[in-house]
Amino acid sequence: MLTIFRRNKRLVDLFNNFIDIHCHIMPGIDDGAKNVEASYYLIKKAQSLGITGFIGTPHVMADLYPNTPQTIGASFDELKEHLLQQKVELSWLGVAAEYQIDSEFEVLLNNKNLLFLHENYILVELPFLQVPMNVERIVQQLIDNGYQPILAHPERYRYFHQQKHVLDVLKNMGCKLQVNALSLSQYYGKSIHKMALDLVEENYIDFIATDMHHQQHLANITEIMLNKKIEKNIEELVHDTKSIFC
Ligand SMILES: [Fe+2]
Repeated sequence: MLTIFRRNKRLVDLFNNFIDIHCHIMPGIDDGAKNVEASYYLIKKAQSLGITGFIGTPHVMADLYPNTPQTIGASFDELKEHLLQQKVELSWLGVAAEYQIDSEFEVLLNNKNLLFLHENYILVELPFLQVPMNVERIVQQLIDNGYQPILAHPERYRYFHQQKHVLDVLKNMGCKLQVNALSLSQYYGKSIHKMALDLVEENYIDFIATDMHHQQHLANITEIMLNKKIEKNIEELVHDTKSIFC
């Protein structure tokens, strides 16, 4: 009897005009692309993998990267100008931010001085060492303001690995969750890989993005083979991300 084994799919095979809603391609303002040439090469490489739209999301962190709509806007203008000169055509190029939930974020929120991915969608992240006391209050405040928070890479916060119920609370409040493509490999370590697979399989996750900072991230994303157990779920995440943001 002839048995035909179907090969596992590569993650990038699903992209096909994908839009990346979390990436550090804005030049010179965070730990992502150092300058406009680095941004250009990241975009060209991502394009070759089927990512044709981008919403750059530089960090906004009070202590490390105190970016403002002005610093982000200036970086965005520089990138747009360079891409125009290089005749790079994209399906979409937008800019927003990845806001760390800290005390300064409350000030920005109160002043309504925020950048959105699209409509009312706003990308937030948490510190890696300790869950902030105010996370539920801030998420509630975002929702009360009519915003749609998306928590970046929940699988990367190790304090959630033993406390998935906190993610249940955030989800029940209306917060969406975005998994990093690289978490579908062991790039960030075994426990983060396992948490990502569990969250995807248990339908916690709403969106997928690269969170790319440099070329090595894209090289690693290219290598990711999808575990058959979650292939369908990932197809849906790619589809859902495209359908909201493309
Ligand atoms: Fe990020």
